[in-house]
Amino acid sequence: MRIRPPFAILLLAAGLLAAPPAAVVHGGAGSPRARMDGTDPAAAKALATLKAGGSALDGALAGVVVLEDDPRFNAGTGANIRLDGRTIQMDAACMDGATGGYGAVAAIERVRNPVLVARKVMDTPHLLIVGEGATRFARAMGFPDYDPTCAENKARFQRVQAILKGSDPRQIEAWKRYDWKKAWNFPTPLKEALGPSDTVGCVTRDAKGNFAAAISTGGTTITFYGRVGDVPMFGAGIYAGPKGAVACTGNGEDIIKHLVAKTTYDLLARGLPAQEAVDRALRAFPPTIDLGLVAVGPSTTGGGCNYSAEKKAFVTDYRRQMAWSVAQ
Ligand code: GLY
Repeated sequence: MRIRPPFAILLLAAGLLAAPPAAVVHGGAGSPRARMDGTDPAAAKALATLKAGGSALDGALAGVVVLEDDPRFNAGTGANIRLDGRTIQMDAACMDGATGGYGAVAAIERVRNPVLVARKVMDTPHLLIVGEGATRFARAMGFPDYDPTCAENKARFQRVQAILKGSDPRQIEAWKRYDWKKAWNFPTPLKEALGPSDTVGCVTRDAKGNFAAAISTGGTTITFYGRVGDVPMFGAGIYAGPKGAVACTGNGEDIIKHLVAKTTYDLLARGLPAQEAVDRALRAFPPTIDLGLVAVGPSTTGGGCNYSAEKKAFVTDYRRQMAWSVAQ
């Protein structure tokens, strides 16, 4: 039976009708707006998966895989190279709002799509598998050896190297042993030089009104071996429940301390529209620490970031920052 628009709005408001499927994708705090040529197809892929009958979780994973496979984003192929110039360690997580299922990997190496390994963790009795155990788990699940190194992350690492040690490549060993953050004396502030961390994420609402979130990252721009951020921490980087889903990006350490995803989800659960929940989360966060997020609620979507890649500055007109895309 086709329900006419005015009645549909009344039924939607009363919670008697599920809103159409929707996907919201972000390309990371600090991603330029021009990179919506990457987030748009990711959102479209997530939506196509939902419209083909896929669950919210299927859609969220499909959206993140598109971004993991796009070498311009710091996740999967293109994930950040760490300070030794060789190691790539990645974190990823996914959460199914309908079941409360959660799976995550941290500091995983040599896989193409960490978010799909996180999905496999969801089927185990565990929530999070890390390091070599995560990589070995991936192999046991049939994920082949894969090197995420590419021209894009090599170029990014060269910029980091130049920042850290001037032009002499022989100094890299010294920098590995030295607490360079405490002695930062460049004219450019450390935070500005390093830039935000470019996690990718996707939140979805499926045709049944269920929600899911998925997220993936190569970590912050300069990252020690074994460092893990917000992405695989339950309630920090993503959260999904019966009232919506949230995916974050930005400085992982502070996102963990503020438990941003769960706190923002709680606003959705209180009935706030997704954009209002996003704006409130951003206003409540320290204004000079980068944070971006996307959210979907029972009939709304939202997103924003407090950092402008174009201005290289923190801003308060959140909605027009970062590459983020809605498909519905
Ligand atoms: N938000 C990604 C990270 O800090 O690792």
